[in-house]
Amino acid sequence: MNKKLLDYTLKIRLPITVFVIIIAMSITYYVSRNERDGIGNTPTQPILFSHKLHAGDMKIDCQYCHTGVTKGRHALIPSVGTCMNCHSVARKDKPEIQKLTKIFLSGEALQWQRVHRTADYVYFNHSSHVSKNIDCKYCHGDVAAMEKISQVHSFTMGSCVDCHRTAHKSFPEIAGLKKGPDHCWACHR
Ligand code: HEC
Ligand code: HEC
Ligand code: HEC
Ligand code: HEC
Ligand code: HEC
Repeated sequence: MNKKLLDYTLKIRLPITVFVIIIAMSITYYVSRNERDGIGNTPTQPILFSHKLHAGDMKIDCQYCHTGVTKGRHALIPSVGTCMNCHSVARKDKPEIQKLTKIFLSGEALQWQRVHRTADYVYFNHSSHVSKNIDCKYCHGDVAAMEKISQVHSFTMGSCVDCHRTAHKSFPEIAGLKKGPDHCWACHR
């Protein structure tokens, strides 16, 4: 290689190549960010169940169906039996309700698709948040307005810890709320 060509390669070609690589990496990083954090996850459910209709328009309390939120780690998904409290009568003529009734009579569990999930090595507990009056919407968004549940906030370590560090100031409407823990073994036990 002659000197002129080498100079050109080092001073022009190389910086341009590095620049292009950095830009491409940053774009992929940000574009795929929501996907990695789970935001926007909206799986198709086996029954077209609408939170907007049940929790929004009909104002059925979240805890009528998610009975675990004040008791333990999991919010729990209601069994078909809970649905049948109403749907052995309500809208029996509709195809989705006939599908529901068939599943109920078969005795099998309905295979709802999971929307939110933290990694296996993370300890999360609903009751320690919900019983301190932290509303579902801070973590799940306005579910009562959703036809189909979709994840709107990420559950990365940063998002948990950010809220923990500022909770005593961020929610003046919740009297006596303390900071959440930020020592490692609170969430990794
Ligand atoms: C009539 C029963 C019922 C009521 C009332 C109800 N839900 Fe649900 N919820 C379900 C069922 C069934 C599923 C599973 C199917 C789905 O994801 O749409 C579910 C799923 C969810 C999920 C997603 C779970 C996952 O897989 O990550 C969240 C979050 C949720 N509900 C929050 C709420 C909130 C908040 C309220 C009150 C505003 C509420 N629900 C009221 C029945 C109910
Ligand atoms: C407290 C009573 C009640 C409970 C509990 C309930 N529903 Fe409903 N649901 C209704 C009523 C009433 C309607 C009709 C509302 C309307 O059309 O205005 C309805 C409508 C529906 C529809 C739409 C039917 C159609 O095509 O018009 C589906 C699907 C449905 N419910 C599924 C479920 C599932 C699944 C569960 C259990 C997770 C459930 N519901 C629990 C009262 C209930
Ligand atoms: C501080 C944040 C936070 C609050 C507040 C919260 N959730 Fe959750 N929710 C989560 C996380 C994180 C998961 C995933 C848990 C996992 O993977 O074990 C989850 C999962 C769920 C699930 C899936 C099933 C399960 O048992 O894990 C349902 C249903 C649910 N939440 C409903 C609710 C309802 C209803 C409320 C309000 C009464 C609520 N959540 C309040 C963070 C929260
Ligand atoms: C909206 C704010 C908020 C978010 C988001 C949040 N937390 Fe918390 N968390 C709190 C507050 C506030 C407390 C302390 C409540 C108290 O004791 O007064 C707490 C307490 C806890 C505790 C201690 C409970 C106990 O029984 O000792 C654990 C563990 C925890 N959070 C895990 C998590 C994890 C994991 C996530 C993310 C997936 C998360 N939290 C997201 C606000 C939040
Ligand atoms: C408030 C809860 C919380 C606290 C406190 C916490 N973590 Fe995490 N950590 C998480 C969550 C949630 C994830 C999962 C992140 C994901 O799935 O993207 C995680 C993931 C991790 C991972 C996997 C790699 C990664 O970054 O995703 C490591 C390693 C880790 N934490 C170490 C620690 C250490 C060390 C501490 C103490 C300095 C700590 N964590 C404190 C919630 C917490």
